[in-house]
Amino acid sequence: MNRTESFTGETLRVVRGTRSGVAIAVAIHSTARGPAIGGCRIKAYPSWRDGADDALRLSAAMTMKCALAGLPHGGGKTVAALPAEGWDPARRPGLIADLAEAIAALGGRYRTGPDIGTTSEDMAEIHRLEHGWAFCRPEEQGGSGTSSAATARGVLAALQAGVSPGSVAGLRVGVIGFGSVGRLICQSLLERGAQVVVTDVDGGLRPLAERLGATWTTADLVREPLDVLVPAATGGLLTAESAAACGASLIVGPANNQIADEDVATVLRDRGITWIPDVVASAGGIIHAVGREELGMDEAAANARIDAIADTTSAVLAHARERGLTTVQAARELAAAG
Ligand SMILES: NC(=O)c1ccc[n+]([C@@H]2O[C@H](COP(=O)([O-])OP(=O)(O)OC[C@H]3O[C@@H](n4cnc5c(N)ncnc54)[C@H](O)[C@@H]3O)[C@@H](O)[C@H]2O)c1
Repeated sequence: MNRTESFTGETLRVVRGTRSGVAIAVAIHSTARGPAIGGCRIKAYPSWRDGADDALRLSAAMTMKCALAGLPHGGGKTVAALPAEGWDPARRPGLIADLAEAIAALGGRYRTGPDIGTTSEDMAEIHRLEHGWAFCRPEEQGGSGTSSAATARGVLAALQAGVSPGSVAGLRVGVIGFGSVGRLICQSLLERGAQVVVTDVDGGLRPLAERLGATWTTADLVREPLDVLVPAATGGLLTAESAAACGASLIVGPANNQIADEDVATVLRDRGITWIPDVVASAGGIIHAVGREELGMDEAAANARIDAIADTTSAVLAHARERGLTTVQAARELAAAG
């Protein structure tokens, strides 16, 4: 895993949970626009340092995501770095309490939400234990619920802007990751007349994908000739090698940190492949949560704000074109200006 070379954030706090024994890193990248927000990830890492690095990288991305979405927040992230093996799931309740304690220790400068390895129910428990700094609790408990549908909606808005003025009907779209967001994206693309090819490491999802009308493949979709590639699994999919072999014209998806490093964005630009940065495309979930839980928006207002990701996408693509920038450089400049 690449090390984060420079520390551009405000706070990195690493503690060992007293109940779980797990290393927990909470990174606050920025509170300049308001309290930092970002999900809480529970995942196995080769070492706690790798977990802390992930928290730093993901918190910086959250700052850009919030700024581009016009939210009154900066970026933060929590990572609980499980040992690569030997973790006893019976210790999970203790870990959730440790996470609540680690987040509460930051005194409200950081608010969390679900991410890989955590659920709305975990947020309800963190919210209860730390007195109210967790988004996306179940709706019946006063939260805005799971963010998957909102995230999928935002990706579709970005995708539509990326193919504009064309339509998705008839396009060949490859989706990597048939999880909670990926399958909603597939469903919507199929309804709009796209030809959808899907892959997932979990082969048990194949019948569901085929029932929806998608084609299942075990091929490496990054290398397939596609109109659109949708990364909807884990991050780091696009490396210098895979970008050089990529067969898609447009890449847009919810997966966080899709490019291994920024040189990859240059390779994609130079090959004429349009990559819509994940900080733009994946903001639907956070827009929905903040809109509903903090800004007093109803569902229609939150959805309208998510659909505006199309305008942000068009602005980023135009800025990149006009200045000869990569799309991530363009997104960073627009985020700093906003
Ligand atoms: N859920 C949200 O609201 C949200 C918001 C912003 C960003 N994201 C990001 O979007 C991505 C998808 O989120 P999700 O909630 O659907 O997650 P999920 O865990 O429900 O689904 C991920 C799917 O990817 C599959 N997968 C993992 N590694 C793979 C690989 N190498 N190749 C193919 N498939 C693989 C898994 O089997 C799983 O089915 C994640 O990177 C997440 O961090 C999600």
